[in-house]
Amino acid sequence: MKVLVTGAAGFIGMHVAQRLLARGDEVVGLDNLNDYYDVSLKESRLERLQRQPGFRFVRLDVADREGIASLFAEQGFDGVVHLAAQAGVRYSLRNPHAYVDSNLVGFVNMLEGCRHHKVGHLVYASSSSVYGGNTKMPFAEADAVDHPVSLYAATKKANELMAHTYSHLYGLPTTGLRFFTVYGPWGRPDMALFLFTKAILEQRPIEVYNFGHMQRDFTYVDDVADGVVRVLDRPGSPDAAFDAARPNPATSHAPYRVFNIGNRNPVPLLDFIGCIERALGKTAEKRLLPLQDGDVLATYADVQALGEWVGAVPATPLEQGIASFVAWYRSYYRV
Ligand SMILES: NC(=O)c1ccc[n+]([C@@H]2O[C@H](COP(=O)([O-])OP(=O)(O)OC[C@H]3O[C@@H](n4cnc5c(N)ncnc54)[C@H](O)[C@@H]3O)[C@@H](O)[C@H]2O)c1
Repeated sequence: MKVLVTGAAGFIGMHVAQRLLARGDEVVGLDNLNDYYDVSLKESRLERLQRQPGFRFVRLDVADREGIASLFAEQGFDGVVHLAAQAGVRYSLRNPHAYVDSNLVGFVNMLEGCRHHKVGHLVYASSSSVYGGNTKMPFAEADAVDHPVSLYAATKKANELMAHTYSHLYGLPTTGLRFFTVYGPWGRPDMALFLFTKAILEQRPIEVYNFGHMQRDFTYVDDVADGVVRVLDRPGSPDAAFDAARPNPATSHAPYRVFNIGNRNPVPLLDFIGCIERALGKTAEKRLLPLQDGDVLATYADVQALGEWVGAVPATPLEQGIASFVAWYRSYYRV
């Protein structure tokens, strides 16, 4: 297969591209290498990919309409894994336009490329944040997701709606994956695991929001990359069981699917910190702070539908995943 992976210099993108290359696929990795976080980390991820045969890098912005149209016309992709996006909940309160450009304009450009060049399957990153203020646990794909609490979440929900229209109008198979707090080696410097590890090693206090009363379903990046590739291999088809009189949001009369991909195990923030402390052999100094705007209190994935669809669900225990992250962090930053 020839696959376009957008956001290939990003955390999840690198792991997905590696997995596709390892099984012999040809991968075109696209990224604009923006400076939302340390660009040298993105460059190091790319260097790893460039050492593998079958990889080609294209530096391009997904919001560049002509650039994306030419890329699709030149390349003829069998599949697209669209992960490039402006990520981060909190930053969306400060810089909303970055989310409109990358996540909405960029997404239409992907859809148009797939539509005009008969791509076999578009798999794209949605997010657990679409569940917004919902408190029904675990979060299931059949739940209503009409109450986002950040613009980031709204753009991800919008992606699902936009994908549905293209699946309906043009028969384009699309699958959205709602990622639940992904962590692991090569992780993002703006996320809790990275921030906490760095601060603890530098003997600085860590900032613990909502006074520690939060829960997250932490999902190991290898499990996520495995899920993305399995899903890519299984495009949806129109669901014969879909009943428009009682429409199930998870499926459709069109070749459209959306799945949670999470660890089925919500972990209290203080337990998560305890795990990091054990892996580092150091104790954190905690600054307890109120809830941040845009944050949700808890996430917890129902992954039954994913398991039935691809035969595997994330299962890496948190202790193990954190130990792998800490080992990577210490060797990469030589600390
Ligand atoms: N990591 C998580 O816990 C998590 C959770 C839910 C959803 N997601 C989604 O998964 C995807 C990947 O996330 P990640 O954690 O790897 O983030 P990341 O920021 O490490 O990766 C995204 C990559 O996309 C690139 N990019 C951003 N805007 C671009 C643009 N306009 N044009 C081209 N490239 C652009 C960035 O340079 C970056 O390398 C994103 O869509 C994100 O919203 C991630």
